[in-house]
Amino acid sequence: MDYESLGAQALDSIAKAQDLDALDALRVAFLGKQGSISGLLKTLGAMSPEERQTTGPKIHALREGVTNALADKKAALESAALEAKLAAETVDLTLPAPENARGSVHPVSQVMDELAEIFADLGFAVATGPEIEDDWHNFTALNMPESHPARAMHDTFYIDKAASGYETEQDMVLRTHTSPVQIRAMLAAGGDKPLRIIAPGRVYRSDSDATHTPMFHQVEGLVIGKDITLAHLKWTLETMLKAFFERDDIVLRLRPSYFPFTEPSVEVDTGYSYVDGRRVVGGSGDAPGHSWMELLGSGMVNRHVLTAGGYDPDQWQGFAFGVGVDRLAMLKYGMNDLRAFFDGDARWLGHYGFSGLDVPTLSGGVGVQA
Ligand code: PHE
Repeated sequence: MDYESLGAQALDSIAKAQDLDALDALRVAFLGKQGSISGLLKTLGAMSPEERQTTGPKIHALREGVTNALADKKAALESAALEAKLAAETVDLTLPAPENARGSVHPVSQVMDELAEIFADLGFAVATGPEIEDDWHNFTALNMPESHPARAMHDTFYIDKAASGYETEQDMVLRTHTSPVQIRAMLAAGGDKPLRIIAPGRVYRSDSDATHTPMFHQVEGLVIGKDITLAHLKWTLETMLKAFFERDDIVLRLRPSYFPFTEPSVEVDTGYSYVDGRRVVGGSGDAPGHSWMELLGSGMVNRHVLTAGGYDPDQWQGFAFGVGVDRLAMLKYGMNDLRAFFDGDARWLGHYGFSGLDVPTLSGGVGVQA
């Protein structure tokens, strides 16, 4: 075959290459180490000078023609591939943007953060304890020995130990209040230093109606020192409620009460009135148009509780309180059905939830409105 028709054949197969892989296979077949054109070049060495003078330029022209054709075809295939990719990836900027679902912070979480912020400013640390609690921490250490009548007030959920694999002598319960964290915090402190903690968290009682859910939230407060009195309790609660409700006219009424873990025990009421059909905290409950509402339980820590927590009750004393977080949230943000708190209805959360950016701070205000 003469060099010209050989070249024409090569250019024809290059023109027909469908993709870059096929093209590269041709490059190897013509110009690779074992390629046909490379083979022709090798024959030059064995030729006579005259023959080489006529044949050499033809072979070199053949190689150059094929090399250029390969490069041109490669560029053409590449730009075709790019065109195809651009066409496939077209973005229609006139389409409406997809709306990203945005979560919101549940009012209970928001209020717990607000309380943590307020109490942090008063020097309180946040303490925690398990929700599945043992009988000793939930009852006995809190001065409620077995068969104590106050235990019956707590409508306790007991854990089925056999079914759940607990290997304890004691009964295990879903904690009925956050008060067991008092004991845990005292024992962790070692019985020889002052203590100032709050303990927010979930608690459980088998109780369910418009104002009670089987799971609800409390914040416990505990202050231990050598000269802590009821006056400190009253000041602390007043200061906390003023900051929380962002009003100066918070008036508290302390009523004698009974809790096994405090002595004396006081129930704390706050004055409120109805404004536009909504309960609004503020003013004395004895003022015209006002009433008292029970807000929380508290008292001076019972000697037996101090002892169970490893504190010497002849040297140390303190106060404790427990307040319902859900109740505080309802009062502050105007929800009226507690059950809706835990339905997980996205519409309710969208309405009452908070933006994740509404982080409560004392300087910025802990009273962000939804
Ligand atoms: N633990 C009590 C309750 O759940 C509240 C309380 C806490 C009362 C601390 C006094 C002191 O009702």
